[in-house]
Amino acid sequence: MKKIVIASNNAGKLREIGRILQPLGIEAVPQSAFGVPECPEPHVTFVENCIAKARHAAAHTGLPALADDSGICVEALNGAPGVYSARYAGEPKSDERNNRKLIEALRGETNRRAHYYCVMVHVAYPDDPQPLIAEGIWRGEIIDTPRGEGGFGYDPYFLLPEFGRTGAELGEDEKNAISHRGQALRALAEKLRAGA
Ligand code: IMP
Repeated sequence: MKKIVIASNNAGKLREIGRILQPLGIEAVPQSAFGVPECPEPHVTFVENCIAKARHAAAHTGLPALADDSGICVEALNGAPGVYSARYAGEPKSDERNNRKLIEALRGETNRRAHYYCVMVHVAYPDDPQPLIAEGIWRGEIIDTPRGEGGFGYDPYFLLPEFGRTGAELGEDEKNAISHRGQALRALAEKLRAGA
């Protein structure tokens, strides 16, 4: 099995990434296994932060690395919270305060369109001039009253009009099949398989 270091310590993401990469003969190893320190994410775009994280993990381990970055972009807020999604309402990060701030920011706003965005970057080495980059976009709208117990983050307020359910009302497998992260991961796996 070829090893790839994953620049994430989130157990759910690691499981999902491992499951998709295993059939390709790739073992996904979390960066925590190598004691990789936290990587600064100073950029205003997802893709720049994601490349920085992948490079950082590759530099610290000497292995190919895969990073992801994601967030929610709200049309009426010019794409905010965007790369600041995790800490939209400041430190310490709190889903509850983030959601409250979002609902407040959209008070009286009729345009409720929003999308989750995810980008995945694979680098074969730290200065790889040709990183593999894959994206996923999951469109929905923001509602004022939370629904559902599943998911995390903004999911209880993220309504999928075509399903009549929020992200938090989907099962884990159901969400992975259609979400921004699922889309990006499958697209990245396809690029790895093709050796692009
Ligand atoms: P990260 O890429 O895991 O750091 O995610 C950034 C932030 O975006 C999370 O902390 C959430 O606030 C938000 N986010 C990203 N993906 C999702 C999702 O699938 N559901 C809910 N919130 C998400």
